[in-house]
Amino acid sequence: MKKILAPSILAADFTRLGEQIKEASEGGAPYLHVDVMDGIFVPSISFGMPVMASIRKCTDMFFDVHLMIEKPDRYIETFAESGADGITFHVESDPENAGEIIKHIHGTKSLRGVPLRAGISIKPGTPISAVLPYAADVDMILVMTVEPGFGGQKLIPETLDKVRALRAFLDSNGLDTDIEVDGGISSANISGIVKAGANVVVAGSSVFKDSIREKVIKLIGLMNEA
Ligand code: DX5
Ligand code: ZN
Repeated sequence: MKKILAPSILAADFTRLGEQIKEASEGGAPYLHVDVMDGIFVPSISFGMPVMASIRKCTDMFFDVHLMIEKPDRYIETFAESGADGITFHVESDPENAGEIIKHIHGTKSLRGVPLRAGISIKPGTPISAVLPYAADVDMILVMTVEPGFGGQKLIPETLDKVRALRAFLDSNGLDTDIEVDGGISSANISGIVKAGANVVVAGSSVFKDSIREKVIKLIGLMNEA
């Protein structure tokens, strides 16, 4: 499976956002992870459409949008128009409508004129059984490795058991769905995480500090060796 590093701009210096994204891209990161928080689904508020639309102009990277918001269905078109390439929502945010939301995402085109990729996410306390019914419908399943809402937290080790179980389920059903992990990932634990079965790895505070380009190169190297 293709291994993909997705630096999360939540940890960036917003006064230098464009330059820092460029550095991450030069290091070879194909995705840019964009965390949208509404202060209701999670306690914090991050940023939204105007910021995305603005950075869309400075990079060609795949925008991997992680919606941590209530009723995500309201905002699919708006995020597509602001530059999203993929949209991931939390199953906990609207469990009854998850199937419809996936169809809505796939039925919406990005600014590149292709259908958005769809992802579904689970918080650390949610079992994988909550997303297995959608495993064949989505492009990606995001297993949160910290409680969503803040960057810079420590990875919860038990969440890796869910990654292993999910990869085993996907393999036994002949599915090549991406597994993304997000939260507390650094050069110290990325190898184990990839070995557990994750192929898309989000990294915020371990990338956007000091030399961003070198950090990206190092993390990608470790992913490829794992
Ligand atoms: C947390 C966000 C993460 C966050 C990760 O709710 O979903 O994407 O940016 O940050 P680090 O890598 O610092 O844990
Ligand atoms: Zn995220």
